[in-house]
Amino acid sequence: MEPLNDESQKIVWITGASSGIGLALVKLYLKAGWQVIASARTQGELANLVEHESHLSFVEFDIVDKEKIAPVRDALSQLAPHLDCAILNAGTCEYLDLDGDKTDWQMMERVMSVNYFGLVNSVDVCLPLLKHASQPHLVGVSSQAVQAAFPRAEAYGASKAAIRYFLSSLRMDLKADGIDVSCILPGFVDTPLTRKNTFDMPFLMSSDEAAKRTYQALQHRPYEFAFPKRLSALLWLGRHLPKWWLGKLAPNKNDNL
Ligand SMILES: NC(=O)c1ccc[n+]([C@@H]2O[C@H](COP(=O)([O-])OP(=O)(O)OC[C@H]3O[C@@H](n4cnc5c(N)ncnc54)[C@H](OP(=O)(O)O)[C@@H]3O)[C@@H](O)[C@H]2O)c1
Repeated sequence: MEPLNDESQKIVWITGASSGIGLALVKLYLKAGWQVIASARTQGELANLVEHESHLSFVEFDIVDKEKIAPVRDALSQLAPHLDCAILNAGTCEYLDLDGDKTDWQMMERVMSVNYFGLVNSVDVCLPLLKHASQPHLVGVSSQAVQAAFPRAEAYGASKAAIRYFLSSLRMDLKADGIDVSCILPGFVDTPLTRKNTFDMPFLMSSDEAAKRTYQALQHRPYEFAFPKRLSALLWLGRHLPKWWLGKLAPNKNDNL
């Protein structure tokens, strides 16, 4: 992608763009005529697109690496004078296996540092560039997992709940700068992240469908957008009938996890 000088050209930065929901979002934004800057640690499934799409460029970014914040910001600003939208979508998932002395408590920190602090680092990267746009939009990807507790999701759920709170607070603090903030809460989406799950994933949808719903919702700049609604309803029950939810989801001693 050539550096941009056309003020009318909409530009989006998408993290976690090498697979799953992020990759599907890249394709949708390109189709809608946006200039797209995609980031991840590797190009992954993006490599072919980067080679052939003149409106797409790739900036490598490991979101946990604080040393990369300034260089990545520089790389973005060399490509684009401003960002109209930043979709902070990169994330990971690991589950807690309580196994006495062998329990990997470090995992809590690993997941929190990618999902939560990685998103904070990404905000640090893009905020100055968003401030140069006329109607900037900052978007973070949380999860419907925050709507009710799931077994073994101590790390993932807590990191996504932290994102949701962080964004809701940031929305207040960025209002005076005219930056809209949206939090996306997807349900189960078929991606490399969920393909390792061994439990039932109700209302599972494709990454293309998830990206389409996200893209459409973002046109209205919602504070939060949770989908699919059928899962939200189920999780509402889980939240309001916690004993029933616990009885339904909590594993028994003899369950083979
Ligand atoms: N799939 C679901 O059901 C679901 C549901 C709710 C929320 N979400 C959220 O949606 C987002 C996208 O997930 P997905 O399902 O599309 O998973 P995915 O296909 O595994 O994609 C995750 C993306 O994050 C990037 N990433 C991971 N660690 C990174 C790091 N340290 N630095 C930079 N990039 C990193 C990966 O790229 P590299 O490995 O190349 O860096 C990849 O592009 C995540 O935040 C996830 O929590 C997913």
